[in-house]
Amino acid sequence: MIPIPFNRPFATGKEIDYIRAAMAAPKFSGDGPYTAQCHTLLEQSLGIQKVLLTTSCTHALEMAALLLSIGPGDEVIVPAFTFPSTTNAFVLHGARPVFVDIRADTLNIDESQIEQRITPRTKAIFLVHYAGVGCEMETILAVARRHGIAVVEDNAHGLYGRYRGRYLGTLGQLATLSFHETKNFSCGEGGALLINDAEFNQRAEIIREKGTNRSQFFRGEIDKYTWVDVGSSYLPSDLLAAFLRAQLEHRDQIQSMRRKIWETYALELASWAEANGVRLPILPQECEQSYHMFYVIMPSFESRQALISHLAGLGILAVFHYLPLHLSPLGLRFGGHQGDCPVTEDLVDRLLRFPFFTGMSSSEQAQVIDAVRGFHC
Ligand SMILES: Cc1ncc(COP(=O)(O)O)c(C=O)c1O
Repeated sequence: MIPIPFNRPFATGKEIDYIRAAMAAPKFSGDGPYTAQCHTLLEQSLGIQKVLLTTSCTHALEMAALLLSIGPGDEVIVPAFTFPSTTNAFVLHGARPVFVDIRADTLNIDESQIEQRITPRTKAIFLVHYAGVGCEMETILAVARRHGIAVVEDNAHGLYGRYRGRYLGTLGQLATLSFHETKNFSCGEGGALLINDAEFNQRAEIIREKGTNRSQFFRGEIDKYTWVDVGSSYLPSDLLAAFLRAQLEHRDQIQSMRRKIWETYALELASWAEANGVRLPILPQECEQSYHMFYVIMPSFESRQALISHLAGLGILAVFHYLPLHLSPLGLRFGGHQGDCPVTEDLVDRLLRFPFFTGMSSSEQAQVIDAVRGFHC
């Protein structure tokens, strides 16, 4: 019995060649040739006018909050079921999160509850396409337009997922990606800001370069650079971009490997799920997922914990996911109460993610499937 991790980073083999080439260049700080190549690969494959690599999705979210000038007194609508980075981005600048419950089917923000939470202070909606399955964007974009507020897609999970044929990350004014080692495409730690509204282009470059107009200087557009706005250091080294380029140019190979693993789980676990009252992921017709994760919803907290222990006993690491943000220590300080988001509160206790990573072998997956089938609620 071989232990099976929850995630194992994948390399295509080209990463090392590109890193060697990046090291041989006269400079390998940010915005070198590999960063430019990653920008082009993402812009062309997504059909987006501007992409900027960042040091993480967390930092891309912070850039989005700065670009939208979110500050003290502002409110931002977010799902209660997400990673803290989605909220930290604007809480850092003094804004207040307004937590909205999720839909029971996709675990995405419940679009039917957004409008009632909008006040004159609402500045933006930061949403998450959970597991790379799109939120109900038509409704959300219409609500945002009606109230003149921005939409930021935290697309940490969803690169190359689609909603009504359009790529996730191309629908809000701004969107973010993660290239953390647990994501479909990775460079260890990394991210990107996707800019769908060209009005943000120039300021985004400045914010990313410590509040200076250094990007314009490097392009020869000005003869010296200086401090022009607030900002920070959000650009990754070209060494990381070299690694990422190898991953991005193997998009089809990586996505088809992940798709096969996802479909095998769904097929092989269908009867087990039905017999044990377990729910498999639900995909609305208008969504094409990104094959980021495979999760199940167990009948109860107790059965979820028992399955984690059963699998751990067989050397398999299965894990739960986010805890409700409105009930976290900081969420409580923002006025969160038990019962505010009942769907989130229920599902987080029952959700379980199985090992899922590019390069997972058929025998490893068969071991997980056999182990799961050996468990009865
Ligand atoms: C929805 C979501 N947003 C943001 C992040 C943070 O990503 P990063 O580690 O690239 O900062 C995560 C982390 O997994 C996430 O799940």
